Amino acid sequence: MEQLKAVILAAGKGTRMKSDLPKVVHTIEGKCLVDYAIEAAIGAGAEDICLVVGYKYEVVRETILHQEVNFVLQEEQLGTGHAVRCAKDFLGDEGQTMILFGDTPLITAETLKRLREYHTENKNTVTVLSAMVEDPTGYGRIIRDADGNFVKSVEHKDASEEERASHEINSGMYIFDTRELKEALEKIQPNNAQGEYYLPDTLTIIKDKGLKVDAFALSDPEDIMGVNDQEQLKSAAEIIRRRNQAK
Ligand code: UD1
Ligand code: CA
Repeated sequence: MEQLKAVILAAGKGTRMKSDLPKVVHTIEGKCLVDYAIEAAIGAGAEDICLVVGYKYEVVRETILHQEVNFVLQEEQLGTGHAVRCAKDFLGDEGQTMILFGDTPLITAETLKRLREYHTENKNTVTVLSAMVEDPTGYGRIIRDADGNFVKSVEHKDASEEERASHEINSGMYIFDTRELKEALEKIQPNNAQGEYYLPDTLTIIKDKGLKVDAFALSDPEDIMGVNDQEQLKSAAEIIRRRNQAK
């Protein structure tokens, strides 16, 4: 198996949490949200992990359980693509890179292993984890052609009405060939509705090179649910308690 590194994006403030604490250090069963993501990455085989931090990064560094991870500072939140670019020295030039968010504590090592297996078996250059949801409002949409082949991932704010009809959403999690990821990150531009450097734009850049890009779709979106407000923190906590009881 190729070397696997993980980058976890955790620079945001999490305004909707209505709290002074950075979002990713809110806890469930005594453990920070970002520690759940770190544990899933380790469980999936990541040998080295880098957290991209920004808002109150000292608090994040001091609070998390997994002190063995690396940190890079993203001073301004210019987008998910920019955030990953901040970690380019950490990535090196070989193997695979997994991208996760610090605010999705329900992701499991098992699901990430399935994503990695799918990616490796199909010899993809990048595989995005997606899921079918009832209400895709606000999420990036996965667009496929009539034969079901991956075409692109488009942000809600940039999508046409037809594209918005897709119920397959981008989870924000990926496995990339590291070399191709780094090359594509140099090419993304903030020419979109939000003026941000979008990580999903690397999928189009890589596909346009003639390389294999695909989405691995989960039928159950539970694992990819993010925590954006106190209500979602409660729902995630209930799911984690239920899972712990089932162990
Ligand atoms: C992102 C994806 C979208 C996907 C969704 C899933 C992009 C452009 N869009 O949208 O396709 O459906 O996640 O939840 O990637 N972050 C940083 N630095 C930045 C920007 C973001 O660290 O400069 C972190 C945030 O703290 C957060 C995560 O990345 O944890 C996601 O960022 P956010 O801006 O919320 O992306 P979405 O709009 O949710
Ligand atoms: Ca989000």
